[in-house]
Amino acid sequence: MNPPQNLKFTTMFLRTAFLLALLLGLGDMFGLWPATRLLVDAHIIAGLLFLGSVWALATKVNKTAPGAAGPLWAALFVILVGAVIALFMKISGNLLGILHLVLMLLAMGMAEMGIARAKRRAASA
Ligand code: HEM
Repeated sequence: MNPPQNLKFTTMFLRTAFLLALLLGLGDMFGLWPATRLLVDAHIIAGLLFLGSVWALATKVNKTAPGAAGPLWAALFVILVGAVIALFMKISGNLLGILHLVLMLLAMGMAEMGIARAKRRAASA
């Protein structure tokens, strides 16, 4: 089986979950809609799906192109830190909220780096 094809679904799933979490989070941050329990829970679920898909991708890439998985493992760690901050501290409307957003953006950048590396490895193999 062609490795990049293997990663395509998880990659698209990861990007969709991230976008959903980002939109719901930004709407909350800029007060575009009231932060109801339902919307916050939807944001948390999208965020957890983002975490799960980075984890799945890191595991897959680790098998097909081990050297390329580093940024994905790093992204997973950064998401975990960002999630713990959000779940156990009051982050709404303060600096911790911005830190949470920055950590998630950083994690997405690292995940994209890992995806690009895995594709390059597969193309040159
Ligand atoms: C496991 C992943 C995640 C968890 C558990 C999580 C959890 C939370 C929680 C509990 C809040 C506070 C909501 C409130 O009470 O008003 C929040 C806010 C927010 N989240 Fe997430 N989140 C996750 C992923 C993400 C991702 C991937 C992004 C996208 C970049 C993101 C961006 C934001 C933003 C912008 C806010 C608003 C902060 C504010 O009001 O100052 N989160 N998140």
